Amino acid sequence: MSINVQSHNSFSREKAINLLQSGKLVVFPTETVYGIGAVAADDKAVASIFALKGRPSFNPLIVHVSSIAMAQKEVVWNERAELLAKKFWPGPLTLVLHRNKHASVSFLASAGGDTLAVRMPDNQVALALIEGSGKPLAAPSANRSGRVSPTSAQHVLEEFGDSVPLIIDGGDCKVGVESTVLDITGERPVLLRPGGITQEVLEEILNQKIMRASATAQGDLKSPGMLESHYAPGLPVRLNATSVDSAEALLAFGPNHPAGASRVINLSEKGDTVEAAARLFAALRELDDTSYTAIAVMPIPDIGLGVAINDRLRRAAAQKP
Ligand code: TXA
Ligand code: MG
Repeated sequence: MSINVQSHNSFSREKAINLLQSGKLVVFPTETVYGIGAVAADDKAVASIFALKGRPSFNPLIVHVSSIAMAQKEVVWNERAELLAKKFWPGPLTLVLHRNKHASVSFLASAGGDTLAVRMPDNQVALALIEGSGKPLAAPSANRSGRVSPTSAQHVLEEFGDSVPLIIDGGDCKVGVESTVLDITGERPVLLRPGGITQEVLEEILNQKIMRASATAQGDLKSPGMLESHYAPGLPVRLNATSVDSAEALLAFGPNHPAGASRVINLSEKGDTVEAAARLFAALRELDDTSYTAIAVMPIPDIGLGVAINDRLRRAAAQKP
């Protein structure tokens, strides 16, 4: 592998933190997907994330913290935040809250808005970097804007090559889809992005119904991650395939799949949505090969992590802008 990739066992923590503190970007593993991180208070470093990703600057970044206390310095904490953070942090839940008056986070990271998205990742490397920096790290998924998120260091290399100074290889991400994004600024919590923690589980803990924000036209987006076409491979994606063309690649799910595809990857032979989520993005990358005409995707049950999987697949299938 390239010289900018270092194993999570052997990377120099001090060097990584020095890079971050001098305004450089470091790619690190989280339990969901790999993130490309910068000190969130550093405007220039945050700007370089947008530049490298080719990301529209209206799309705000998630701010990663290593403790509840660190989050409380950046956002206006509330009871629901306390309840959810105590239960799910570290873990794949991002909370959108009002920005604290004294927040250190760059306004660019929150795209000029008055809210901030915070989460505490469940990964020792990520936590060590945040703790070592002493400040939150802004880190979007480490992919070019509009492409599927990376779940291995190899995927990150395919996206950025050596244009980032350090990629810390922590192996395959165990969750595999991005965090759930929940807006708890208002009376009713709003699910902005289904993800690693399901709506049902959140409703149970909150003892309250959660509204599902619908993907609207660009412009009045509550969470730009809801852009219709967002997680997009280059090939057309055909959903709910019950039969397959010989020129197509098939993304299968469950013990039985239609015969005849050029290539098959099964997300979970035993039909487990957790296993399928962990494999989803790697499989999409692998099948996104111009020797096939399209990626046909078998139906996946809309329960548990299936909700997040189907959300990403719908975006992958949406017309590209
Ligand atoms: O699992 C994850 O969340 C990964 C890892 C690296 O932590 N990160 C990630 O970041 O997926 P990103 O930037 O690719 O997606 C962030 C999502 C976007 O949909 C964005 O619009 C939304 O969070 N978001 C960020 N700040 C927000 C805010 N203040 N209000 C509403 N949505 C926000
Ligand atoms: Mg992303």
